[in-house]
Formats: sequence, structure tokens, C-alpha cells
Amino acid sequence: MKLVIGNQKSYLDSKSVCEFIDKLTSIKNHNNVLICPSSIYIDRFHKTGFLIGCQNVSKYASGANTGELSSEQLKSIGVSFCLVGHSEIRKNANETIEDTNIKIQNLIGDKIVPILCVGESLEEREKGIYEEVVIDEIKGALKNIPSLAIEKLMIAYEPIWSIGTGVIPNNSEIEEMVTIIKNYFQDNYGLPGIVLYGGSVNASNIDELNKVSQIDGYLIGGASTKIDEFINIINKCQ
Ligand code: PGA
Repeated sequence: MKLVIGNQKSYLDSKSVCEFIDKLTSIKNHNNVLICPSSIYIDRFHKTGFLIGCQNVSKYASGANTGELSSEQLKSIGVSFCLVGHSEIRKNANETIEDTNIKIQNLIGDKIVPILCVGESLEEREKGIYEEVVIDEIKGALKNIPSLAIEKLMIAYEPIWSIGTGVIPNNSEIEEMVTIIKNYFQDNYGLPGIVLYGGSVNASNIDELNKVSQIDGYLIGGASTKIDEFINIINKCQ
């Protein structure tokens, strides 16, 4: 069984979310499914009984920070998982690796499991420096965080060039990166490491991806907003 995480970004409007939830609730076995909807819909998804996560968290504590969602607030509405360091946020909101580190500390402090997104750009892949890029991101994001606190943390390996493009690495490229990340966790924390793959996962490539036994699950963007396709993927990950 693989974990299936839907990162719904800001795709769905209010009416589409209703239609999505109507069909979603027909799924019986969904212990391995985690939905990260737009924050404004978290409450609606909560009622479905699915695991729910947030797409981002503030680096600031609760207080005078307009437009921010603090980890305390997320905790207070029962959110137990949160994406952090997604490349779209690093780019759109200029999030630095130091910011990501603070966010992870906040989440852990509030007992919310961070799902840390890492991945190289196309240029970095072509230069052959993807391993050091990804490991540097992990090192920076987890700086000063004790191993006990990161036991449940997950890493989503998402090559930037694959997000939303329909282009995905081949299985041996994914296997190589997932193994590198797992070895890093073993060597530095004595933990096996939970590593997901993300980037253009859909119903047509899921069978092929499932052949990579090292992958613990998937972080799915666009395809997680199309309910029939998403159910298809979930069924293939049981
Ligand atoms: P995608 O997005 O599946 O649309 O490529 C993945 C992600 O950004 O998490």
C-alpha cells in the first residue's frame, strides 16, 4: 500500500469542491489517502473522515500577521499534516530554506507532521548536481531539529521540472533519488525515512511508478483535483 496525498493547490472553486467531496466519500478504503485542500475548504473536507493536511503554514506564531495561518491555528482545527517548502511557494513567496526550517520547527512544536518538498531544477539535473541540491535542501530544512522530532516527517521528492509539466523522470532516476534520501536518513538519524514522489503523477503513469518499490507514496497535484482520476489512482495504490 502506498500513501496518496492530494495537493489541490488553488484549483477548485466552491462548487467543484462540493462535487469532489460527494464522489470522494464513496471510497471505502481510504486510510492511505491524505487530502491537502485549499485552506478555506479544510473544514468541509474534515467532515469526510479523510486525513487532512494543509498546503502551507506561516513562519510566524499566532498574532498580528495578516493573511498568515499559524501552526497553532492549524492544530486548533485538527490539522495533523502540512506541506512545507513546496517549490511553488519558494518561488512565489520567496521562501528561503531558513524560512522552511522555522516552519518545520513550528509544525513539530504543534505536533503536526511536516511533509517537506525538495527537488532540483532542470538545469541542476542537467549539470548532474541533483544529489547535492536535494541533500542540501534537506540539511537546511532540518537544521537543529532532533531525530526524535523528525521520526514521522515525510520527504516529497518533486523535481521542479516535473511539476505540472507532464514530464516525469524514469523509474531508475526516481529510484536513485529515493534511495539517496533514504540513505541520508539512515546515516544521519538512524531512521528509514519516508519518501514520496511528486511531479505529474496521474492515472496513466501510476502503474509504472508503482514498480519502484522504494517509493512510500505520492504527492499529486493536478490529478488530485479530478475526482474520477484520483479515485483510479487511489485504487491502484491499495
Ligand atoms: P503535479 O503537482 O502533480 O500537478 O505535477 C505536484 C505537486 O506540485 O505537488
